[in-house]
Amino acid sequence: MSPKIKMKQVVVAELEQAKTRKFLWDFGGQRFMNHRIAQYPMDLPMWERFLNSISDIKSIVELVTANCGMALFLALQAYQRGMEFRTFDWEEGENLDTPLSKLLCLRDKFILGDLWGDSLDILTNLLMNEFPHPILLFCDDGVTGKEDEFRDFVTLLQVGDYVAVHDWPYNISEGDIGFFGDALERLWWEQWEVVGSITWFMRVVKPLDDYRNILVNG
Ligand SMILES: C[S@@+](CC[C@H](N)C(=O)[O-])C[C@H]1O[C@@H](n2cnc3c(N)ncnc32)[C@H](O)[C@@H]1O
Repeated sequence: MSPKIKMKQVVVAELEQAKTRKFLWDFGGQRFMNHRIAQYPMDLPMWERFLNSISDIKSIVELVTANCGMALFLALQAYQRGMEFRTFDWEEGENLDTPLSKLLCLRDKFILGDLWGDSLDILTNLLMNEFPHPILLFCDDGVTGKEDEFRDFVTLLQVGDYVAVHDWPYNISEGDIGFFGDALERLWWEQWEVVGSITWFMRVVKPLDDYRNILVNG
């Protein structure tokens, strides 16, 4: 076979692979139990693995809901494991009243409002007073708000709580995590990366009160 034909075959094979990857990883095409979800396929088994391994979690809080795919996945996990669950968004996405959503009473667990506006007190109270610890906070705000969301709301957690953040390294990166010095312990990042997950899990290992004061008082 001539080197030119061989090269052409390699290029065609690579293009096919890229098309398959795009098909599999396209957010617009992802669904959980037929509800739209903005997660990569590999992220859900990694969540399952995480929740199976860290068995002391008592509450999960999702920021934010969108079309309820991930909210339903987390609500199911919480229901099965006897955990508290809430999900926040400033828009009521589709799917709050599907049969599965009704079964899990998702509407009662959904808080409508701006995270930095009318929902702020509710979120603060849940994380600091109401919900049993350890809490797992999932930061998955939109493209523009994730760094702020991460920096502001992680400070409401206490030692022993967990945080998961989506869209690494696109909407959140090393600098956002480095902001908290060594207060956040990274959990299994290398393993997550190998399987193509873009969700990272961390544990709070030092008090974050000073960071909260910086954010509140400037
Ligand atoms: C990336 S989607 C969430 C995806 C969802 N967690 C999932 O996995 O399917 C981003 C959502 O952020 C919401 N959002 C953006 N800024 C917000 C704010 N300040 N307060 C509440 N919700 C906000 C938008 O309404 C949108 O639904």
